[in-house]
Amino acid sequence: PLQAVIFDLDGVIADTAVVHDAAWRKLATEIGLPFDRQLGERLKGVDRLGSLEILLEGAGRSYSQQEKLALSDRKNDYYREQIERFGPEQLLPGAHEAIASVRAAGLKVGLASASRNAPLLLERMGIAGLFDYIVDAANIQRSKPDPEIFLAAAAGLGVPPAACLGVEDAAAGIASIHAAGMAAVGIGQPAALAQAETVLSGLDAFRIDDFISSEEPWLAVAG
Ligand code: BG6
Ligand code: MG
Repeated sequence: PLQAVIFDLDGVIADTAVVHDAAWRKLATEIGLPFDRQLGERLKGVDRLGSLEILLEGAGRSYSQQEKLALSDRKNDYYREQIERFGPEQLLPGAHEAIASVRAAGLKVGLASASRNAPLLLERMGIAGLFDYIVDAANIQRSKPDPEIFLAAAAGLGVPPAACLGVEDAAAGIASIHAAGMAAVGIGQPAALAQAETVLSGLDAFRIDDFISSEEPWLAVAG
């Protein structure tokens, strides 16, 4: 039976997927690189330097390590300018209630975020205390779609991966959840999240009872 729900942060709990996207877009424009919706979708869930590597696929030359660090710092400055002003208003609709409902059902709550800004964001939005265990990019070696981050969250919660449900807005995140042996709930457009067992438009549509009624999270999710 289901024992824990592990949430992604950006684009699931916090309204920050658009902020990351805008910061990358600004950088791309400034250095003359192409940026469109599909590229933005590919960057979701991927860590900072990994995202930059994807962006630089559109460049006609190679960049030194030093240049790459400067560019990723610049993107992070653009992102930080925005989230410095963030507060509980930037929680996505239903996010607080969804997390609270998991706790109220007696399950553990985990966070698996690829963002090094996750601790700051959780503080600003006032929800750091809602999680039993938090894994951010600083605690792991391999980025989503590698399963490491969701496996680390399950281990930290003391729950077997097969008893966890992962919640993600990025294709790379759904792949990470599945590689960890967990069932996945996608948040967003079904077209971008075709691999997830179920897709919801947002956490305001999340009902924990739909997932705890079965011995197999998979079956409950599919049903
Ligand atoms: C992920 C976001 O959660 O974190 C990505 O989906 C972002 O868009 C990544 O690039 C890394 O974030 P940060 O804050 O460490 O640059
Ligand atoms: Mg995300």
